[in-house]
Amino acid sequence: MEHHIQFLAEEKVLVLLDQRLLPGREEYAFCRTTADVVQALKDMTVRGAPAIGVSAAFGCVLAAWEARNMRDWRPRLDVLLREIAQARPTAVNLTWAVDRMRRLWRPEDSLEDLIARWLREAEAIRQEDLAANRSLGRYGAELLKDGETVMTHCNAGALATAGFGTALGVIYAAMEAGKEIRVIANETRPVLQGARLTAYELRLAGVPVTIACDSACALLMRRGLVHRVLAGADRIAANGDTANKIGTYALALLAGAHKIPFYVAAPLSTIDRSLPDGEAIPLEERSASEVTHLAGIRIAPEGVPVFNYAFDLTPAALIAGIITERGVLSPPYPKSIARAFAQPAPEEEAGAKGSPRERLLPPRTGRPSPDLDEQRQERECFNPQPAPYAD
Ligand code: MRU
Repeated sequence: MEHHIQFLAEEKVLVLLDQRLLPGREEYAFCRTTADVVQALKDMTVRGAPAIGVSAAFGCVLAAWEARNMRDWRPRLDVLLREIAQARPTAVNLTWAVDRMRRLWRPEDSLEDLIARWLREAEAIRQEDLAANRSLGRYGAELLKDGETVMTHCNAGALATAGFGTALGVIYAAMEAGKEIRVIANETRPVLQGARLTAYELRLAGVPVTIACDSACALLMRRGLVHRVLAGADRIAANGDTANKIGTYALALLAGAHKIPFYVAAPLSTIDRSLPDGEAIPLEERSASEVTHLAGIRIAPEGVPVFNYAFDLTPAALIAGIITERGVLSPPYPKSIARAFAQPAPEEEAGAKGSPRERLLPPRTGRPSPDLDEQRQERECFNPQPAPYAD
């Protein structure tokens, strides 16, 4: 799935498959302004750390176009970039992408030059993420044995990235290698990324998937129904502590108690080496209504306070390995992470053709899917192998 984030340069529009509506409706949101992009990030029209980064990079291009009418466009553009970077706090790919764009902004640039350079860079970020997912998928697939059942949390699939996915990318790659893998997708309260998005994309790809309540994990593990746990990441500190969707920490503890290996799959762009450990990772708190309401219907009494942390922190000690595009990193993570960054990038095959999932989906043409033009008229803008680093 690579058509969920499209950028139509001539029309100056970022087109996003609206993940809030899946699996019931496949509709697209059209972002023409920075405010549209910020809104799409905040309300999770687009979500998942790498997908957020790719969308933010294209958002910077839109911001530059938007600033073109200002007499002094530089300070205005600076403000717009800050707004994009602050849309969500936990996924480091967001600030990583905006900072990467900023680094290409030279004081002497004309706006036209900058837009052209940023357009190329945003596309490079997208392609690099695809290639990283393919590569980490191959490394991770080596860990999975034919016939295993993998439990996963949230959605760390094609939808959460530029395509292919991280945790789900490992499963797709194992399938491509001829292994039969079954998946248990935790529903992932309160936004239900597991039940809605992971089940949706695994189904499309023909991967056998069963949805489980988050609270069923311990029982399923005790009954021997889970061989491995694979989770994505929103930010990994230099020591391997990992912030991911709320519930991931509990899952890692349960996996440890049942002697089930717990792995994290993420590209290097999700590793924040400026943080020595995870304590300083900001954990987003979202609206109480995500917990008190289901599909718009109130399910909790009014006035009762709510904890709605969207992420939690899994200590590095609970993680058996971090699957990256440069190999599966093993503890001690400070060392293996540093070595992964020090290595030159291996040849990463970009967008290999013909995966089971891609055969089920229309090819990305750079144009929206056929029904998109109709939708555009109706909904203009927002309606919203061996581990090389093992020690
Ligand atoms: O709040 P979300 O849906 O953006 O959270 C996403 C997750 O926690 C994913 O597991 C994580 O971003 C990894 S995505 C490859």
